[in-house]
Amino acid sequence: MANSDNTKKVKIGVFGGARGSVMVHQLLNHPDAELVAVCDKYEPLLENCQRAAQEAGTQIDVYTSFDEFIKHDMDAVVLANYAHEHAIYAVKCLEAGKHVMSEVLPAETPAQLVKLIETVERTGLIYSYAENYCYMKAPFEMWKRYRAGDIGEIQYAEGEYIHDCTSIWPDITYGERDHWRNRLFANFYCTHSCGPLITISGLRAVKVVGFETNLNIEEKQLRVGIPERAGIEMITLENGAIVKSIHGGLKMEPGSVNYQVYGTKGMMQSRRYGSAEFNIYREGNKVCQGTWDNYDPSNDIGSSIAVRSQGHGGSDFYTTHCFIEKILGRPDGDWCIDVYTAANMGLCGIMAWRSVLAGNAPMDIPDFRNLPDRDKFRFDNACCTKEVAGDQLLPKTSHGDVYIPDETFENVRKQWLREPNPISDLF
Ligand SMILES: NC(=O)c1ccc[n+]([C@@H]2O[C@H](COP(=O)([O-])OP(=O)(O)OC[C@H]3O[C@@H](n4cnc5c(N)ncnc54)[C@H](O)[C@@H]3O)[C@@H](O)[C@H]2O)c1
Repeated sequence: MANSDNTKKVKIGVFGGARGSVMVHQLLNHPDAELVAVCDKYEPLLENCQRAAQEAGTQIDVYTSFDEFIKHDMDAVVLANYAHEHAIYAVKCLEAGKHVMSEVLPAETPAQLVKLIETVERTGLIYSYAENYCYMKAPFEMWKRYRAGDIGEIQYAEGEYIHDCTSIWPDITYGERDHWRNRLFANFYCTHSCGPLITISGLRAVKVVGFETNLNIEEKQLRVGIPERAGIEMITLENGAIVKSIHGGLKMEPGSVNYQVYGTKGMMQSRRYGSAEFNIYREGNKVCQGTWDNYDPSNDIGSSIAVRSQGHGGSDFYTTHCFIEKILGRPDGDWCIDVYTAANMGLCGIMAWRSVLAGNAPMDIPDFRNLPDRDKFRFDNACCTKEVAGDQLLPKTSHGDVYIPDETFENVRKQWLREPNPISDLF
C-alpha cells in the first residue's frame, strides 16, 4: 500500500480547521498523502494544525482567506467548513481543478446539488462524500455482506443517530446565533442515519415522509439556545423497501448509533442489548429456522495504516483513505461515495422537511442523474438561510419560533471563550 518512492503522494489542503483537524491528523499519517495547506478564519485552529504538522516532521502553509488558499499548489481539498456551505465551496474547488472530499451534509438546497453534480460531470474530477458512519464497523460489514447476497433483498431497515450535543454546544456554536447548528431544520442532518442504509442496499431513495418531534423547551436546554428535537424520515427505496431514519438530540447517554436491515433471507443489526458489534441472522432451508452469527468485524481495507486511527470507531480513517486511493486509481477508492449517492442521501432530509411543512405529505425524491429532474429543481433554493433562499425562505421549525434572547448567546460565547475545547476531543 505505501509508496516506496513517494512520487505518487497526493497533495491535499483542508478547508476548516475544527472538525478538519481530524482529517489533518489522517493526512499527516497517511503514506500516500501530503498535507500542504489548511485554511480557517479562526487563527488558533491554524496554529494547532501547524503544530501537528511540525510534530509529524513536515511543514504546511496556512491561510485565513479561502480565495488565497485555493490558489495553493495542491491536487485536492477536504471540505470541513460550515455544513450548509459545502456544495458552494465544492463547486469553487472543482472549478479550480481540485478533487473534493466533502464533510456532511452535501448541500443545503436542490439547486446547489444540481450545480454540484453538473460541475463534477463537466470537470471530470473526483467528488467523494465523507459520510463516515457508512464506514463504522457494523454498517461497513453490512455493506459487504449485503453485496454478497447474505440476507437476500432488503425489505425494511432502521438507522438511528441519537446524539445530544447540549453539553458541548458552546464549543460547536461559539455563541453565534446564526451558526448553522442553531438554524438547521429537524431533517437536515440526516445522512448519519439514512446514509449507511442507502450504501448498504445500493438502492436509490425515491420517496420520503418527514416528521419533526415536539421541541424540548426545558430551562436547562434553552440555556444554550437550542430547543432540541429529532427529525424522522420514512423513506421508500426504489425496490419498495421502507427505511426509518431518526436523528437528533434526544436524551440518552451515551448516544445511540444503530442500524438494522431486514432482507428476504435474514437480517443484520449492529450492537444492541449487549450483543456483538455485528449480528446476522440467516434463514436456513426450513422456514423460520436459521442461525445467528455474532462477531466483531475486522477490516481488510487499508488495514496496515487503519490501526493508527480510531476516530468515530475507526470510520474517520476510511473516508480520507478511500478518497486518496480513488485519486490514485486504486481499488480501495471503489468504496468512495459518489456525488449522485451523496445527493440522494442529502435529498432525503431536504425533501423530508418539505413533507413536514406540508403536514407530512409524501414527497418524491428527484433523481439528479436525469435532466428533467434537474431542470425542475435548478432554481429551487428553498431553505432556512435567508441569503440563500431569498423569497423561498422556509421556517426552521414547524412549531413556531421559540424566542431566545441575545443574552443567552452572549453567555454561551463567554463560556466558550473561558474554556474552549478542541473539537477533535469532542467528536
Ligand atoms: N462526520 C462527522 O462525524 C462530523 C463530526 C463533526 C462535524 N462534522 C462536519 O464538519 C463540518 C465542520 O463542523 P465543525 O464542527 O468543525 O464546526 P463549524 O461548522 O463551526 O466549523 C467550520 C470551520 O470552518 C471555518 N470556516 C467556515 N467558513 C469559512 C470561510 N469562508 N473562511 C475561513 N474559514 C471558514 C470556521 O471558522 C470553522 O472553524 C460540518 O460540516 C459538520 O457537519 C462532521
